[in-house]
Order: sequence, then structure tokens, then C-alpha cells
Amino acid sequence: MTTRTDVDDIAAAFTAHFGHAPDGVWSAPGRVNLIGEHTDYNEGFVLPFAIDRSARVAVRLRADATARLVSAYGNQGLVTVNLDTLSPGTMKGWTAYPLGVLWVLRQQGVALRGFELYLDSDVPLGAGLSSSAAIECATALAFDELLGAGLAPADLVLVGQRAENEVVGAPTGILDQSASLLATEGHAVFLDCRSRESTLVPLDLAAAGLLVLVVDTKVTHRHATGDYAERRASCELGAEVLGVASLRDVDAEDLAEAAGLLDGETYRRVRHIVTENRRVLATVDVLGTDGPAAIGDLLTASHASMRDDFEISCPELDLAVDTALANGALGARMTGGGFGGSAIALLPAAGEPTVRAAVVHAFAAAGFTAPDIFAVTAAAGARRLDR
Ligand code: GLA
Repeated sequence: MTTRTDVDDIAAAFTAHFGHAPDGVWSAPGRVNLIGEHTDYNEGFVLPFAIDRSARVAVRLRADATARLVSAYGNQGLVTVNLDTLSPGTMKGWTAYPLGVLWVLRQQGVALRGFELYLDSDVPLGAGLSSSAAIECATALAFDELLGAGLAPADLVLVGQRAENEVVGAPTGILDQSASLLATEGHAVFLDCRSRESTLVPLDLAAAGLLVLVVDTKVTHRHATGDYAERRASCELGAEVLGVASLRDVDAEDLAEAAGLLDGETYRRVRHIVTENRRVLATVDVLGTDGPAAIGDLLTASHASMRDDFEISCPELDLAVDTALANGALGARMTGGGFGGSAIALLPAAGEPTVRAAVVHAFAAAGFTAPDIFAVTAAAGARRLDR
């Protein structure tokens, strides 16, 4: 992982590897989900924002069918691939993200060309901040333009999701790619995952004297492994038993009846989704009427629901949330898929040193790995960077 570098540095790194300048540099951010967790694949509501950390790809097309890829990650060296042989099983390591996108574009009828690609990113890996979606979205945007595919951002969301589902093997929804591709600076993206309609919701934290602090617990979890898929399966079972197309169709008023029809665990999973959808809608309302200082309790209630009903938290996430709340945060919750990754805390900007110190101290006292703590702002979505 490198620190933030600007477009000239990325282009220079490309030139150092490949001996000539790139055709362009494209950037796509990671995200924080403000609220609405595991609701995306239940056709529900989410409210993420793009963060000021991003993946950047410098790309130049070639005349043949050879792809040459190199990244600033570690020292894995140059990877050379013949695009004619591209298939999901053959893509390994970080190259599965960009090459997965290329494979999906080809499946959708886009004629590929060989290329050189250099990747850099300052979205922390495995921290629940969508480092993989950032790579997919930067790549999708770059090749949409370079190959003249003419896809709309909402279509590129599905390209990225398909790469994640069919190549990386993680059965995820559209939250991450939507945040990365559809966000704008100073706004959260309110997304209806059934209709795929999105609305930009103003989120000017600084004007309200607030900030969002990310606590990366350093507990990593990959969604291609069992737990995420298990939660998804529970939701599908719940919907089937309740006779609905998806849990989006279950209202809070239906929960009492659902309790009698479902086993205890499935009921708790369903209750999280149903109440979380309500909390997303309430958060959008409250942001509009009273501003961000008033959404803290909704965030904290969301965490309790994920901890107790959906059971996707972990001791490190709970400690980050509890410590932030005990030291002046207005609300706090884990963000992203869970089982590790990051928590977010909404707090008065002046309270940052106190919360930061308290969380560091609490993690040390518990014998946990020291967390990484940083503030994020609602940043711009994916775009081509000018040189
Ligand atoms: C991961 C997935 C998303 C979403 C979240 C949970 O980030 O990639 O699709 O399901 O988990 O809200």
C-alpha cells in the first residue's frame, strides 16, 4: 500500500514500467456505508458515500491481444496474459479484479484489445472499505472509454458486481460499485436496490461541525468465504418461507407473524433486514429535516441489530463502537460486510483527539492489534483524472 499519489506520479510510474506514457488515468474511490447493511442483495435500501481514498489505473491500449499488468501492491511484478485465454478460473491475485472486469465486458459483447495497466490504491485492503470495488470501477470506467463501450455508470455498476460474483467468487450486491461510480463530493448515495434508482443526499459534515472517523480494526475477512454467503442464504430462506420475492417486501408490521413461521435464527436475520431498511429511510428523512447531527441514534441502532440479530460484528468492532460512544460520538456502527473490517463513528470535529486516544487505549488494553484510525469526507465518485 502506498500513500496518496497524484495523477502525474501514477503516469510516471506507468512510464517507468512500460517505456511510454499511458492513454489516460482513471480513479475510483472506496466507500463508507453510512447505513443499510446487507440490505442490497435483499432489494432494499442503502446509503453509502465515496471516501477520499481511491484506486487509480493508468492504461494504454496495445495493437495485439496481450495484457500486461503491474501494481504498486507489494512486489508481485509484471503479469502478462493473453486475452484470448481469459476465463474466470485463470485469474489470480489482484489481477482478478481488473481482468475480471475485462472478461465481463467481453461477455457483454465488447471487443477487447490488449493493454498495459498500472494500478495504485490507497484504499486499505480487507478493511471493509471496498478496495476491490474501487479497482473494478476504475478499470470499468477506463475500458468503457478506451474501447468505446458507451455504458452508463449504472451499467458499469453491474459489470463490477458481475466481476466480483463470477470471477472473484464473492456473492455480493451492488452497494460498493454503486457508491464508487455514482457518488459525488459532499453527498451520500441513497439507492433503492430493487429499482436501482439513486438519489444524491447532501452530506456536509464539516458545515455541521462533524466528522466521520473510520476505525480499521485490522481484522480482515474475505466475502468469498462462508459467512457472507451464509447470511445471504438465511435471507433467501426467510423470503421463501414468508412467500415474498425478497425481504424488501416484509414490513415491520409483518414481523410478529414472521416470528411464528421462522426458526429463531432465520427470524433474527430477517428482523435485521426489515428494521435496517426502515433505518435507512429514517436516516434520509432526518438528514433532510434536522441534519447529520441527528442521525447518531439510527447509526447506533443499526450496529446493535448487526451485532445481535445479523451476528456479523466481532469483539474489535464492538469495542470500537462502544468506546467511541462512551467518548462523545453521536453514533457509531460497523460498516460493510462485517466479521471484521471497519467501524465508523460520527462525532463533533473537536472531539476527534479524545475518541482517537480512547479507541487506541481500549484496543491496547484488550490486547487487540492497534487499529488504524482516520477521518473521511464524502468525496467524488469514479472519474478520469486530468493531466
Ligand atoms: C459487502 C458487499 C456489499 C454489501 C455489504 C453489506 O460490502 O460487497 O454488496 O452486501 O457487504 O452491506
